[in-house]
Amino acid sequence: MKHKHPFFVLEGIDGSGKTTQQAGLVNHLRSKGYNVHATCEPTNSRIGRMIRDVFSGKEMADQHVIAALFCADRLDHLHHLDNGLLAMNETHAIVSDRYYLSSLAYHGVHVDMNWVFQSNQPAMHALKPTAHIYIDMDPKESMNRIAENRKHVELYETLENLTAVRDAYEKAISLLPDDDIVVRINGNQSVEQVHKSIIKAVDTVLTA
Ligand code: TYD
Repeated sequence: MKHKHPFFVLEGIDGSGKTTQQAGLVNHLRSKGYNVHATCEPTNSRIGRMIRDVFSGKEMADQHVIAALFCADRLDHLHHLDNGLLAMNETHAIVSDRYYLSSLAYHGVHVDMNWVFQSNQPAMHALKPTAHIYIDMDPKESMNRIAENRKHVELYETLENLTAVRDAYEKAISLLPDDDIVVRINGNQSVEQVHKSIIKAVDTVLTA
Protein backbone atom coordinates (compact mmCIF):
# COMPACT_ATOMS: atom_id res chain seq x y z
CA MET A 1 0.00 0.00 0.00
CA LYS A 2 1.29 3.43 -0.97
CA HIS A 3 0.10 5.32 2.12
CA LYS A 4 1.26 4.66 5.64
CA HIS A 5 -1.90 5.78 7.40
CA PRO A 6 -5.48 4.70 6.77
CA PHE A 7 -7.68 6.79 4.51
CA PHE A 8 -11.43 6.24 4.81
CA VAL A 9 -14.03 7.82 2.56
CA LEU A 10 -17.71 8.13 3.38
CA GLU A 11 -20.02 7.81 0.40
CA GLY A 12 -23.76 7.90 -0.17
CA ILE A 13 -26.57 9.90 -1.70
CA ASP A 14 -27.48 13.32 -0.28
CA GLY A 15 -29.21 12.95 3.10
CA SER A 16 -27.59 9.59 3.85
CA GLY A 17 -25.99 10.97 7.03
CA LYS A 18 -22.35 11.02 5.94
CA THR A 19 -21.49 14.21 7.81
CA THR A 20 -22.75 12.86 11.16
CA GLN A 21 -21.09 9.51 10.54
CA GLN A 22 -17.82 11.21 9.61
CA ALA A 23 -17.70 12.88 13.05
CA GLY A 24 -18.37 9.53 14.74
CA LEU A 25 -15.68 7.77 12.76
CA VAL A 26 -13.13 10.53 13.42
CA ASN A 27 -13.79 10.21 17.17
CA HIS A 28 -13.45 6.45 17.00
CA LEU A 29 -10.09 6.62 15.19
CA ARG A 30 -8.82 9.28 17.62
CA SER A 31 -9.81 7.06 20.55
CA LYS A 32 -7.64 4.37 18.96
CA GLY A 33 -4.69 6.77 18.98
CA TYR A 34 -4.70 7.92 15.36
CA ASN A 35 -3.89 11.48 14.41
CA VAL A 36 -6.89 12.23 12.20
CA HIS A 37 -7.45 14.79 9.45
CA ALA A 38 -11.14 15.23 8.56
CA THR A 39 -11.93 16.67 5.16
CA CYS A 40 -14.60 16.82 2.46
CA GLU A 41 -15.34 17.31 -1.23
CA PRO A 42 -16.29 19.69 -2.67
CA THR A 43 -13.49 21.46 -0.78
CA ASN A 44 -13.37 25.05 0.40
CA SER A 45 -10.83 26.01 -2.25
CA ARG A 46 -11.61 28.51 -5.02
CA ILE A 47 -12.61 25.61 -7.27
CA GLY A 48 -14.84 24.23 -4.51
CA ARG A 49 -16.49 27.64 -4.20
CA MET A 50 -17.17 27.69 -7.96
CA ILE A 51 -18.89 24.32 -7.56
CA ARG A 52 -20.99 25.57 -4.64
CA ASP A 53 -22.11 28.55 -6.73
CA VAL A 54 -23.38 26.16 -9.39
CA PHE A 55 -25.12 24.04 -6.77
CA SER A 56 -26.87 26.98 -5.18
CA GLY A 57 -28.10 28.16 -8.60
CA LYS A 58 -25.95 31.32 -8.59
CA GLU A 59 -24.07 30.12 -11.71
CA MET A 60 -25.11 27.81 -14.54
CA ALA A 61 -22.77 25.17 -15.97
CA ASP A 62 -22.87 22.25 -18.40
CA GLN A 63 -22.76 18.77 -16.76
CA HIS A 64 -19.33 18.05 -18.29
CA VAL A 65 -18.04 21.30 -16.82
CA ILE A 66 -19.42 20.37 -13.38
CA ALA A 67 -17.73 16.95 -13.58
CA ALA A 68 -14.48 18.57 -14.69
CA LEU A 69 -14.64 21.11 -11.86
CA PHE A 70 -14.99 18.28 -9.33
CA CYS A 71 -12.04 16.55 -10.96
CA ALA A 72 -9.92 19.71 -10.67
CA ASP A 73 -11.09 20.26 -7.09
CA ARG A 74 -10.04 16.70 -6.23
CA LEU A 75 -6.57 17.10 -7.76
CA ASP A 76 -6.11 20.32 -5.82
CA HIS A 77 -7.36 18.51 -2.70
CA LEU A 78 -4.65 15.88 -3.26
CA HIS A 79 -1.74 18.05 -4.30
CA HIS A 80 -2.26 21.29 -2.37
CA LEU A 81 1.06 22.31 -0.83
CA ASP A 82 -0.23 23.24 2.64
CA ASN A 83 -2.78 20.57 3.48
CA GLY A 84 -3.00 18.32 0.41
CA LEU A 85 -4.11 14.76 1.10
CA LEU A 86 -0.86 13.27 -0.21
CA ALA A 87 1.19 15.28 2.25
CA MET A 88 -1.31 14.91 5.11
CA ASN A 89 -1.47 11.15 4.69
CA GLU A 90 2.25 10.91 5.50
CA THR A 91 1.44 11.85 9.09
CA HIS A 92 -2.33 11.51 9.52
CA ALA A 93 -5.16 9.10 9.08
CA ILE A 94 -7.75 10.77 6.84
CA VAL A 95 -11.53 10.63 6.83
CA SER A 96 -13.10 12.32 3.83
CA ASP A 97 -16.76 13.07 3.20
CA ARG A 98 -16.81 11.96 -0.50
CA TYR A 99 -14.06 11.23 -3.07
CA TYR A 100 -13.94 9.89 -6.64
CA LEU A 101 -16.73 7.34 -6.21
CA SER A 102 -19.10 10.33 -5.78
CA SER A 103 -17.99 11.66 -9.16
CA LEU A 104 -18.66 8.34 -10.90
CA ALA A 105 -22.12 8.09 -9.34
CA TYR A 106 -23.31 11.71 -9.56
CA HIS A 107 -21.90 12.59 -12.97
CA GLY A 108 -22.44 9.13 -14.42
CA VAL A 109 -26.15 9.98 -14.34
CA HIS A 110 -25.65 12.92 -16.72
CA VAL A 111 -22.54 12.13 -18.81
CA ASP A 112 -20.69 8.97 -19.88
CA MET A 113 -19.46 7.26 -16.69
CA ASN A 114 -16.42 5.91 -18.51
CA TRP A 115 -15.36 9.46 -19.32
CA VAL A 116 -15.70 10.35 -15.62
CA PHE A 117 -13.73 7.22 -14.76
CA GLN A 118 -10.94 8.18 -17.18
CA SER A 119 -10.78 11.78 -15.98
CA ASN A 120 -10.41 10.55 -12.40
CA GLN A 121 -7.48 8.27 -13.22
CA PRO A 122 -4.86 10.72 -11.90
CA ALA A 123 -6.63 10.83 -8.51
CA MET A 124 -7.12 7.06 -8.47
CA HIS A 125 -3.42 6.56 -9.11
CA ALA A 126 -2.30 9.24 -6.67
CA LEU A 127 -4.21 8.01 -3.61
CA LYS A 128 -6.59 5.11 -3.15
CA PRO A 129 -8.71 4.94 -0.02
CA THR A 130 -8.07 2.11 2.41
CA ALA A 131 -11.83 1.64 2.02
CA HIS A 132 -14.82 3.46 0.55
CA ILE A 133 -17.62 3.25 3.14
CA TYR A 134 -20.84 3.37 1.16
CA ILE A 135 -23.93 4.21 3.21
CA ASP A 136 -26.68 2.74 1.07
CA MET A 137 -30.00 4.40 1.70
CA ASP A 138 -33.51 4.54 0.31
CA PRO A 139 -33.77 7.86 -1.61
CA LYS A 140 -37.30 8.48 -0.28
CA GLU A 141 -35.97 8.38 3.27
CA SER A 142 -32.98 10.58 2.40
CA MET A 143 -35.29 13.15 0.77
CA ASN A 144 -37.32 13.25 4.03
CA ARG A 145 -34.13 14.00 5.95
CA ILE A 146 -33.13 16.69 3.45
CA ALA A 147 -36.58 18.33 3.76
CA GLU A 148 -36.27 18.32 7.58
CA ASN A 149 -32.72 19.62 7.81
CA ARG A 150 -32.09 22.07 4.99
CA LYS A 151 -33.16 25.63 4.41
CA HIS A 152 -32.68 25.26 0.65
CA VAL A 153 -32.54 22.28 -1.65
CA GLU A 154 -29.49 22.05 -3.92
CA LEU A 155 -29.01 20.93 -7.50
CA TYR A 156 -29.21 17.10 -7.65
CA GLU A 157 -31.44 16.89 -4.54
CA THR A 158 -34.62 15.55 -6.13
CA LEU A 159 -36.12 12.10 -5.59
CA GLU A 160 -35.77 11.31 -9.28
CA ASN A 161 -32.10 12.30 -9.42
CA LEU A 162 -31.15 10.62 -6.11
CA THR A 163 -32.84 7.41 -7.27
CA ALA A 164 -30.72 7.56 -10.43
CA VAL A 165 -27.59 8.35 -8.39
CA ARG A 166 -28.22 5.36 -6.15
CA ASP A 167 -28.41 3.12 -9.24
CA ALA A 168 -25.28 4.80 -10.60
CA TYR A 169 -23.44 4.03 -7.31
CA GLU A 170 -24.08 0.34 -8.00
CA LYS A 171 -22.71 0.62 -11.53
CA ALA A 172 -19.76 2.73 -10.32
CA ILE A 173 -18.85 0.20 -7.60
CA SER A 174 -18.83 -2.56 -10.22
CA LEU A 175 -16.48 -0.50 -12.41
CA LEU A 176 -13.87 -0.02 -9.67
CA PRO A 177 -10.77 -2.21 -9.83
CA ASP A 178 -10.36 -5.04 -7.30
CA ASP A 179 -7.98 -3.08 -5.10
CA ASP A 180 -10.72 -0.53 -4.36
CA ILE A 181 -12.30 -1.90 -1.19
CA VAL A 182 -15.96 -0.93 -0.83
CA VAL A 183 -17.73 -1.54 2.47
CA ARG A 184 -21.51 -1.38 2.16
CA ILE A 185 -23.45 -0.11 5.16
CA ASN A 186 -27.23 -0.28 5.49
CA GLY A 187 -28.22 3.38 5.94
CA ASN A 188 -31.87 2.61 6.69
CA GLN A 189 -31.05 2.10 10.38
CA SER A 190 -30.76 4.47 13.35
CA VAL A 191 -27.77 6.85 13.42
CA GLU A 192 -26.34 4.82 16.32
CA GLN A 193 -26.78 1.55 14.46
CA VAL A 194 -25.14 2.95 11.31
CA HIS A 195 -22.25 4.22 13.47
CA LYS A 196 -21.78 0.77 15.02
CA SER A 197 -21.80 -0.89 11.59
CA ILE A 198 -19.17 1.55 10.31
CA ILE A 199 -16.91 1.07 13.34
CA LYS A 200 -17.15 -2.70 13.04
CA ALA A 201 -16.25 -2.56 9.33
CA VAL A 202 -13.38 -0.11 9.89
CA ASP A 203 -11.91 -2.18 12.72
CA THR A 204 -12.05 -5.26 10.49
CA VAL A 205 -10.28 -3.42 7.65
CA LEU A 206 -7.63 -2.08 10.05
CA THR A 207 -6.79 -5.52 11.40
CA ALA A 208 -6.86 -7.24 7.99
P1 TYD B 1 -22.44 16.95 0.06
O1 TYD B 1 -21.54 15.91 0.60
O2 TYD B 1 -23.90 16.66 0.09
O3 TYD B 1 -22.13 18.34 0.71
P2 TYD B 1 -23.05 19.27 1.64
O4 TYD B 1 -23.11 18.58 2.95
O5 TYD B 1 -22.27 20.56 1.63
O6 TYD B 1 -24.38 19.39 0.93
O7 TYD B 1 -21.98 17.23 -1.44
C1 TYD B 1 -22.54 18.27 -2.19
C2 TYD B 1 -23.02 17.75 -3.52
O8 TYD B 1 -21.91 17.51 -4.38
C3 TYD B 1 -23.80 16.45 -3.47
O9 TYD B 1 -25.05 16.64 -4.13
C4 TYD B 1 -22.96 15.49 -4.26
C5 TYD B 1 -22.18 16.39 -5.17
N1 TYD B 1 -20.93 15.82 -5.69
C6 TYD B 1 -20.80 15.57 -7.06
O10 TYD B 1 -21.76 15.79 -7.81
N2 TYD B 1 -19.62 15.11 -7.55
C7 TYD B 1 -18.55 14.86 -6.75
O11 TYD B 1 -17.48 14.42 -7.24
C8 TYD B 1 -18.68 15.12 -5.34
C9 TYD B 1 -17.50 14.91 -4.43
C10 TYD B 1 -19.88 15.61 -4.85
